[in-house]
Amino acid sequence: MPARLEIEGGIPLRGTVKVSAAKNAALPALAAALLTAEPLVFPNLPDLQDVRTMIRLLQTLGATIDRNDARASVRVARVLKDEAAYELVSTMRASVLVLGPLVARHGSARVALPGGCAIGVRPIDQHLKGLAKLGAEIAIENGYVVARASRLRGASITLDMVTVTGTENLMMAATLAQGTTVIENAAREPEVSDLAACLNAMGGRIDGAGTSRIEIEGVPTLAGATHRIVPDRIEAGTLIVAGAITRGDVTVSDLVPDHLGAVLAKLEECGVGIEVGSTWVRVRGPERPRPTDVVTSPFPGFATDMQAQLMTLLGLADGQSRVTETIFENRFMHAAELVRLGARIETEGSTATIRGVRHYQGAQVMASDLRASAALVLAGLAARGRTEVARVYHLDRGYERMETKLANLGARIERRT
Ligand code: EPZ
Repeated sequence: MPARLEIEGGIPLRGTVKVSAAKNAALPALAAALLTAEPLVFPNLPDLQDVRTMIRLLQTLGATIDRNDARASVRVARVLKDEAAYELVSTMRASVLVLGPLVARHGSARVALPGGCAIGVRPIDQHLKGLAKLGAEIAIENGYVVARASRLRGASITLDMVTVTGTENLMMAATLAQGTTVIENAAREPEVSDLAACLNAMGGRIDGAGTSRIEIEGVPTLAGATHRIVPDRIEAGTLIVAGAITRGDVTVSDLVPDHLGAVLAKLEECGVGIEVGSTWVRVRGPERPRPTDVVTSPFPGFATDMQAQLMTLLGLADGQSRVTETIFENRFMHAAELVRLGARIETEGSTATIRGVRHYQGAQVMASDLRASAALVLAGLAARGRTEVARVYHLDRGYERMETKLANLGARIERRT
């Protein structure tokens, strides 16, 4: 039986907890190792399922990895294979991040088209259009993207919509192209900026990361570097909500407050006590949160990856709230599970209406995707009685030892296999 978490709810969390490095910055940074024959060193690589999957994928392409504790050195002295196989890509869509680097470094790539996933279809048309603009020959053969280019050429690319990994794939490909590339309508997420910092440390010439216009001047080769990965703003936000929803008093440290602006503003609207330091946030939960409305949008708006966690808090508010999900077409799976815990939530298309209840009652629930599983853990921490969250492998994809971090704050939470 797959691992599950058992939680005795109703205990206010207290104490300090450190945030790990960001999954969504670690994955593109690992892919960037394909762009050079020299080692890329990460002093703080998080120990996550998705990181292990990306390392396994890189090893099939010819990478060697030295890992001791959080420090990892990744080296692709030579690309031995240019194929990202379906069985790997289908378990983790972010595998598509090897596409741009492989074409740029090696001149060819065969990457399985990522199927949809729980939260939506999630096509990669923008990645392919951008690579074609850079001069790659793109074909779709038997469910694989086949891309070839003797040398990529700089181009002006305007993305049809904001795509985080699309921006990252094209930025990596452009670092070794001949000439200058401009990406308009680029994603502004902190993880994009962190990747740019890593690429520039390798000798890349990238300007404007963090804005919607990124300029990349191609260079002939990139060197190795040491890059410290940015803290995980979504894990930070999740731990802050854990303090709020349990009426606790928690200091979440090793974070970048500027990456949480929209989340902290929303929580304050709900009456949550927020104190912001240079690298920490202290959260004090209200007796009962106030309702509010939220619409997800690309950074610096309210992150879609925090939507399920906020919905869980709003489920206990003293009034009605509305949550509108604008990024993915099917990201309300957690709603049905929250209803099993006593929440009153109705979803209609991209909007969920939540009528707050006084408390959740513990129950058996099932995770469906990474952030939904985090939301169910939060609900269990607040619920009266025992909650059992099944299929917790979803949680392990993106949270490093979540139950240990929560137990250190006083939560009664245990992993059962
Ligand atoms: C990244 O996914 C994150 N993953 C996601 O985090 C996050 O939810 C998402 O960005 C939005 O912030 C990683 O960084 C590894 P998108 P990504 O391309 O890049 C559509 C988590 O929980 N689109 O920004 O795959 C797409 O369907 C995960 O950590 C196209 O139509 O998301 C979606 O509706 C979940 N064509 C929207 O754009 C494309 O070519 C945004 O997707 C690309 C995207």
